[in-house]
Amino acid sequence: MSGSVDLAKKDRIAYLYLNNPEKKNAISTEMWEGLVAKAQEISTDSNIRAAILRGHGMSAFAAGADISQFEEKRSPSAEGSTYDSLTEAAIAAIKAIPVPVIALIHGFCLGGGVSLALACDLRFCSNDATFAVPAAKLGISYPTPAIERLVKLIGFSNAKYLLFSGKRIGAQSAKEVHLVDKVFKQEELDEEVESFVASLIENAPLSLRAAKFIIDQSTLEQHERDLEKIHMLARACFESDDYKEGVRAFMASEKPNFQGR
Ligand code: COA
Repeated sequence: MSGSVDLAKKDRIAYLYLNNPEKKNAISTEMWEGLVAKAQEISTDSNIRAAILRGHGMSAFAAGADISQFEEKRSPSAEGSTYDSLTEAAIAAIKAIPVPVIALIHGFCLGGGVSLALACDLRFCSNDATFAVPAAKLGISYPTPAIERLVKLIGFSNAKYLLFSGKRIGAQSAKEVHLVDKVFKQEELDEEVESFVASLIENAPLSLRAAKFIIDQSTLEQHERDLEKIHMLARACFESDDYKEGVRAFMASEKPNFQGR
């Protein structure tokens, strides 16, 4: 067994840890599987209002997939595509978490780590974070869905720069190309993310769920969109007690107490 994905829950926030510190949190097949299981657990826990995905410790979010397993598990046979299906299942499970998911990124965020960070809704990193997609240095093709997500987020040219060069870029460059949303001093990152998430979960949970789903759907072609669910989520907000509470609290100059229904 190589590494684990650990889940902790506190104050309605789920904390997902990539835990393989001897390998800079490189993601083993066991960890990709763990991500699926733990993401599904978060998705079905109605108490959870937000999630934070991070690496164990401060030296890495994740130094990519665990290369030591490639010879056995990512060979040019059917197993190669099985491996990519597994990583995509993990990405899909993270993306399917209905509440906001923030990637908290210290240190190295490489290859599969970038792909995983892209599955989150927002990426906050420390000023010592470095990013790279070194697939060309290993002779593999970065998974097609991961390339598509990268292009959507940072554009054709920036994606080509990262994939052609395999070079590492720093936090500020990552911010300039919108690969990350916020950069903080290393010693302040954890607290900044905590405080952002704490403020976010005070907002109406149904509004957050609707916003997440509808924004994600807006990146799809018209014919791919789940219009029924979009309307259902929007309607659920208007019909909710929280909507009444939000308006009441505003009119009374009070802080709203949202229940998620
Ligand atoms: N898979 C497996 N093991 C990895 C790994 C990965 N993706 N990334 C790091 N490790 C291991 C190293 O082999 C090393 O193991 P060892 O102590 O048994 O020798 C340990 O983690 C520490 O890494 P090391 O290279 O000594 O640390 P460093 O600070 O000099 O460099 C990195 C860190 C992340 C820059 C470097 O390890 C690296 O380039 N890793 C591979 C990145 C990559 O290509 N990722 C894409 C995979 S798709």
